[in-house]
Amino acid sequence: MKARKICDGVQWMGFVDWNRRLFDSLVPLPDGTSYNAYLVSGTEKTALLDAVDPAVADVLMRQLADVKRVDYVIAQHAEQDHSGAIPVVLKKYPQAVVLCTSKAKALLIDHLDIPSERIQTVEDGETLDLGGKTLRFVHTPWVHWPETMCTYLAEDRILFSCDFFGAHLATTDLYAGNDPYVCEAAKRYYAEIMMPFRTMIQSNLKKVRALQFDFIAPSHGPIFDHPECILSAYEDWVSDRVSNLVVLPYISMHGSTETMVSYLVSALAERGVKVQKFELSTTDVGKLAMALVDAATIVIGTPTVHIGPHPSVFAATHLANALRPKLKYAAIIGSYGWGTKAVEQISALIPNLKVEVLGALMCKGIPREADFAALDALADKIRDKHAGL
Ligand code: FEO
Repeated sequence: MKARKICDGVQWMGFVDWNRRLFDSLVPLPDGTSYNAYLVSGTEKTALLDAVDPAVADVLMRQLADVKRVDYVIAQHAEQDHSGAIPVVLKKYPQAVVLCTSKAKALLIDHLDIPSERIQTVEDGETLDLGGKTLRFVHTPWVHWPETMCTYLAEDRILFSCDFFGAHLATTDLYAGNDPYVCEAAKRYYAEIMMPFRTMIQSNLKKVRALQFDFIAPSHGPIFDHPECILSAYEDWVSDRVSNLVVLPYISMHGSTETMVSYLVSALAERGVKVQKFELSTTDVGKLAMALVDAATIVIGTPTVHIGPHPSVFAATHLANALRPKLKYAAIIGSYGWGTKAVEQISALIPNLKVEVLGALMCKGIPREADFAALDALADKIRDKHAGL
């Protein structure tokens, strides 16, 4: 893709990565992603905001082929999908300096070996006049790393938001328009990447809300030209509100846990409680993460392997704990052959989840009447706890 004009003096650059399917060797990208960089040219100076993943540095350099001078490289975030091509850019433009937060400076030196003398730090609220284009740096720590910042272009009312409001979405559309799928992709991005930093995002959201902008230009996915939809979606995601939803990740080996899970799903539905069920040998963990954005309750279903939970359940539980969703309640159900420590081991995996545990029901062998009665009682308890949501 060639560089694309956004408005006079502002261009999109970067790479639309249609084929990437995993980020951090962990996060599924069913719809690819993009690495967006932006070139802002004033009458006096030119700045490149973010670079791209190092694997596609050559694409960015082709887009910059006719750009004679870059004075500043604004490194909004030190993670390599934004910063990896900066050394190549600095080589082409020996007069250019990198501008970033003080924490980013240390990380850029650590991760990319950028010479210290080529980096200048900028304070929160500091401005840079390029000649008719004024950039204001807005520190937004923990969106996504501790050093991350956004950049506001006052004259054109654009907020360059870096990972904030990003979406892992490959598309030829430069703008999101009113496409609901972009918001869906942004929710997946929030769930997989941002959710652990929810409380920090609350304050950063208020901070950027105070700026006057018509466009949000993130570093992944299309530009929001109707920014209110993504702003209000973020306000909902980071709020303390939970919905009448049970998320049920599980796996079954010989059918007992599957029977328990199916019975509970039906019992909850009869009681007006929505359930999203995820069979872990086939599920997209991104979908599971998305469900955790809003859910009030998690019920974890596991058979016993030797003495503990199934390894797939172990991994999903560890991930849920790392994502720190705003869950209020939890329960564990499952089965065992002759003995089990699955409940104790799962409980030890979720210290970050500030949940009230509503029950732990492990049946020996196949589930029988007493087990079904206990599942009905658990469904009653969840219904009562969800009342009013
Ligand atoms: Fe897009 Fe935190 O990297």
